[in-house]
Amino acid sequence: MKFDYRFQRKIKVFKRYRRIIEVLVKYGFGEILGRMNVAARLKIGKRKLLQGTADLASKSYAERIRLAMEELGPTFIKLGQVLSTRPFLIPVELVVELSKLQDEVAPFEFEIVREIVEKELEAPISEIFDSLEEKPVASASLSQVHVGILKDGRKVAVKVQRANVKELIDVDMVILRDLAELLERFVPESRRFDPTGQIDELAKVSRRECDFLYEARNMDIFTLNYADDPMVKIPEVYWDYTTKKVLVAEYVEGIKISAIEKLKEAGLDLKVISRRGLRIIMKMIFEDRFFHGDPHPGNVFVMKNGRIILLDFGMVGHLSQSVVDFLTDLLFSASTWDARKILKTVLEFDLVPEDYDQLGLESELTELLYRYHKIPLGQIDMKSLLIDAMDIFYRYQIRLPGAFMLLTKAMITAEEVARELDPEINLIEEVEPYVKGLASKRFQFSVFKKDFMGVLSDLRDLITSLPFDLKRITQKIRKGDMEVQFRHRGLDDLTNEMFESSKRISLALIIAAILVSASLLRHAQLGLKIFGFPVLSLLGYLLGGALTIWLVINILRSPRNR
Ligand SMILES: Nc1ncnc2c1ncn2[C@@H]1O[C@H](COP(=O)(O)OP(=O)(O)O)[C@@H](O)[C@H]1O
Ligand SMILES: [Mg+2]
Repeated sequence: MKFDYRFQRKIKVFKRYRRIIEVLVKYGFGEILGRMNVAARLKIGKRKLLQGTADLASKSYAERIRLAMEELGPTFIKLGQVLSTRPFLIPVELVVELSKLQDEVAPFEFEIVREIVEKELEAPISEIFDSLEEKPVASASLSQVHVGILKDGRKVAVKVQRANVKELIDVDMVILRDLAELLERFVPESRRFDPTGQIDELAKVSRRECDFLYEARNMDIFTLNYADDPMVKIPEVYWDYTTKKVLVAEYVEGIKISAIEKLKEAGLDLKVISRRGLRIIMKMIFEDRFFHGDPHPGNVFVMKNGRIILLDFGMVGHLSQSVVDFLTDLLFSASTWDARKILKTVLEFDLVPEDYDQLGLESELTELLYRYHKIPLGQIDMKSLLIDAMDIFYRYQIRLPGAFMLLTKAMITAEEVARELDPEINLIEEVEPYVKGLASKRFQFSVFKKDFMGVLSDLRDLITSLPFDLKRITQKIRKGDMEVQFRHRGLDDLTNEMFESSKRISLALIIAAILVSASLLRHAQLGLKIFGFPVLSLLGYLLGGALTIWLVINILRSPRNR
């Protein structure tokens, strides 16, 4: 039995593999498949790979990739969508083309819907629903949505996953993984796109999107995050009727956010809606660090009272605090029009390949900033700015953190939606308060204290590892492993200088420790007190203060400063 199943699956994979190759050949990718030795693997004639279809000449390679993906169905559409969130990894023209991928397909029959719902919810439809509309409100490659009414009268949206879509995706993943490996092996220049890495990432995203429980959990988290905001609505999940393949949620009536005329008819102020939409996105990114990865118009609706409805949480992104820090630093340096600062930020976060061309990168960044510098804030188009920036990052192989890419795409989408509503809106202006707020927050005492402790522990690590590092370096030098070019410029001075500065650093550390202990003691309120201040703490402050003054004088009087 088991063998039989495996055999069947192998045949399935084989058939599908051939179909995929056929489509790729049809869109003119035979040559590269030839280089990848695919013909041998599938036992087909090599000549077959060279029969492209005639009308390809007028189409760019990017367009041909998109068309092939659309023809190959859900896995490939998802692949395209995932790749289009990787603007730093693939060329800009491909990103633009892939973001056009259509995900609307003919709906599947209601009989199949019935079958799936009844199997998943383990009860006949008539027992759960008062009514369930046969015509779906939307149908995509992964699922479709039907409106219904539960027995208790609640109106619901029922999202049903297509039959066998998970199996198809699993088969496709096996094939794609194989193709990616072949590509890496036989077409070395592909390696910089990290094909297998992309496919593994895709497998992760698709597996999640095929699991409606994951989506439902995300809805619950977003509901919590927006519990205090009366202007945001996220449909309630009805967990009793939700499984991996069926998601039943509260039906929320709204106007599609891109239906401008309808919004106007409802008497809504487009400017207000636009601003509100962007504010929601900013909060997701900068405050919650948990954001909707795909805020396109099909997923954002507006209620009659102006409340904004968010739907479809299959693709979400988490940002670590350091990614948000990176983002704020980046935006902050961009807002001061300082290319060197941007470069510094990128270097600080360790995203640049080792042998990068610093001069080239810096001058391109400067040029980019100048291109936008004279444009009034209100007219800067975030999308083209980001695309231009991406292009530079792509060419200099700057690796940005994973979630950052989904984030960029989400921001571009959000800006487009907002701008449809209010052509004068400006994402940069909306971002500004957050960037400023976060930047100034970092200078608040509590945060400073935390950072300061961080610095102390970094220093401790540095000091403890220094002897070891030095030893390793000297060993390397002795073995001749290391080439160092010395230009002798008074090494004695250097040694003296190092001795002096290490003295100062140690002193600064001691002062810092004294001041921190004094503060801790003050809070602890231990021992004898004068005017409510613990004496020990007071002494600490005095000693710390005196030493600081001495250190400052010493630094100011050092020969360098004269
Ligand atoms: N809770 C809901 N209330 C009202 N309409 C909904 C609801 N959920 C989904 N829809 C409708 O179904 C469409 C597709 O739902 P969505 O969750 O975005 O699925 P997909 O992942 O296929 O894009 C939405 O654009 C919206 O029109
Ligand atoms: Mg959707």
